[in-house]
Amino acid sequence: MAKKIYSRREFIKKNSLTGLGTILAMNATTHAMFSQIQTDTLKPAILGGSPVRNKPWPVWPMWNIETDEKNVIDVMRSGVWCRAGVREDVSVVSEFEKKWAETIGSKRCLAVVNGTNALIISLKMLEIGGGDEVIVTPYTFIATISAILEAGAMPVFADVDPGTFQIKPENIRKKITPRTRAILPVHILGLPCDMDPIMEIARQHNLLVVEDACQAWLAEYDNKKVGTIGNAGCFSFQNSKHLAIGEGGAIVSDDNEFMDKCHSYHDTGRRYGQMADLVGGVYVIRGNNLRMTEYQAAIGLNQLRRLDEQTTLRNRNAAYLSSKLSAIPGILPYKLYPKVTRASFHLFPFRYKKEEFSHMTRQEFLRAIGAEGVRGSGGYSGNLNMMPYLDDTFRTKNYQLMYPAEMLNYERFIEQNRCPESERLCNEEAIWFSQNMLLGDYSDMDDIYNAIEKVHKNSARIKAGI
Ligand SMILES: Cc1ncc(COP(=O)(O)O)c(C=O)c1O
Repeated sequence: MAKKIYSRREFIKKNSLTGLGTILAMNATTHAMFSQIQTDTLKPAILGGSPVRNKPWPVWPMWNIETDEKNVIDVMRSGVWCRAGVREDVSVVSEFEKKWAETIGSKRCLAVVNGTNALIISLKMLEIGGGDEVIVTPYTFIATISAILEAGAMPVFADVDPGTFQIKPENIRKKITPRTRAILPVHILGLPCDMDPIMEIARQHNLLVVEDACQAWLAEYDNKKVGTIGNAGCFSFQNSKHLAIGEGGAIVSDDNEFMDKCHSYHDTGRRYGQMADLVGGVYVIRGNNLRMTEYQAAIGLNQLRRLDEQTTLRNRNAAYLSSKLSAIPGILPYKLYPKVTRASFHLFPFRYKKEEFSHMTRQEFLRAIGAEGVRGSGGYSGNLNMMPYLDDTFRTKNYQLMYPAEMLNYERFIEQNRCPESERLCNEEAIWFSQNMLLGDYSDMDDIYNAIEKVHKNSARIKAGI
């Protein structure tokens, strides 16, 4: 077939029509594509739609090759890896202790192997042990309770205020008996406990206070760093923690005699400070070996440089996210006590009310937001006030010798230690986001909000699976 010869005018007309056609066709395709994308983004990711977020969250722990490696390598090359005991002037562990004490406004600090042992040493050196009761929250990591049991004491559980997730002072008061020796407030999730009424109860009943600040570095109550309010404060520097060393812990206190005792105990009972006056040669008390190493302290010094700035960022993002989330029915973000001047937000907690989400279970909700690229967790799922590890301990020879039979009756113990508010948090309502998610910017917080809002809007569809 002969080729049609177009005039210039005809050529332009045809091609512009073709162009227009192409544009129109393209527009139709783009429109279809766009509405497809729109439908995809509106459709819950768990049902095959596009997720709200595809990006990763900030990685934890943080490590800067340029600034963080020299001092660790210096320690390795020095050959002095264990605590440089007598040479405090050259010990990196001593330097770390001084910096941590200064940072949180405590007279003294002792670095130890981990937070669990910081608690055990504190309880033991305050002479809390067999026959004593220690009042504590059930909403905590198991190490808090194991420490009480390791010291030979009896945990007595006081229920929490579900709004703040913290032990409720009125509930502490109800649990006091002639055996009560101490209160162990845990600033759980990095949110400070209501310390004024707790200290007041302790004063009225002549009780000791050991703060578990293992999740609460730089958190403040009434402008005072938590861990420095009671008789002793304990910290953890485990891998997930804001001052991450891998493993590590610290005890802080203003009481020189107590701190000298702790030092001596953690160093095989070797004499130290006022403990040097005791007769008995080098080893003046029965001790343990719970020393931090020099290279751990070097890592800690590096992490310490970032802590304040990161804490400010977590507080800023948590406040922003919390105010956005509180607009979604069924999402109840944490509350802080009026005297809290700073939190550390080891976790960002909120309560989830399934009634507002078409009765999706917490697990279904977590799966749905997880599919949107926002991973959360249900937090502590074991109820520490009623788990078999207690019965196991009560059956040991030592406990049988230290306590009357009725106190070791497991069923009776569980009945007397029920904590319905904490149990509801563990079993149904609590949801946490991890601290590294708070290290992004507002757009990252918006992703969290958008994922939850999308799941809320589509809860009936998700529940029905369509
Ligand atoms: C509240 C609480 N107490 C105690 C500990 C024990 O600390 P560590 O793991 O350093 O022994 C932890 C650790 O996660 C904790 O979260």
